[in-house]
Amino acid sequence: MLQRCIFKRLQQRCCLGNQDATKSLLSSGFASALLGGHRAAGSKSGVPDVKERTLIAVKPDGVQRRLVGQIIQRFEQRGFKLVGLKMLQVSDDLLSQHYCELRTKPFYPRLQEYMTSGPVVVMVWEGHKVVQASRTMVGHTNPLEAQAGTIRGDFSFHISRNVVHASDSLDGAQREIQLWFQKKELLNWDCFDQTLTCEV
Ligand code: TYD
Repeated sequence: MLQRCIFKRLQQRCCLGNQDATKSLLSSGFASALLGGHRAAGSKSGVPDVKERTLIAVKPDGVQRRLVGQIIQRFEQRGFKLVGLKMLQVSDDLLSQHYCELRTKPFYPRLQEYMTSGPVVVMVWEGHKVVQASRTMVGHTNPLEAQAGTIRGDFSFHISRNVVHASDSLDGAQREIQLWFQKKELLNWDCFDQTLTCEV
């Protein structure tokens, strides 16, 4: 049923009158990429790019300081699409998986205490080059070095309370999204203004 629906959408959106061409796209993994939101075949082939996804988290200080709305607003205004959102209390185990590369750092115990001190709001945003763009929007890890206009540059001043997390690479984003979200918690939906903001 779902496959038939995607099949129909592909025919409509890719203007492929030819069923064989559409079938070959489906069997080449395009449909699963569409569902997962991962980058598939480029637009050179006439197939619209499926957009990147990234994980953004408002850390406990951002939630306590009621910055969630302003942070969401920045991503919406930029034209990215929200495909997943939830609030949760992070466990030590989830945090150590999330920051697996930092577990041996001297600052990790303090980071763990801070990140588990209250709820976080985690989101998945989708759009063209969203990983790179959101790192720029979030700003330098150390807020003292973050430019004004970035989230960290505008809302924080110390590295241990830098308000927000953003995945730092495509691979990292994929790993983090799988860690924080179940597949069914992510929605594939069309923005009315998709051709202006999302499709490139
Ligand atoms: P890191 O992954 O290096 O940075 P980013 O969040 O920009 O991807 O570090 C993860 C978090 O660890 C960082 O946001 C804040 C905290 N941290 C410290 O508290 N002290 C430090 O010296 C570093 C490097 C990070």
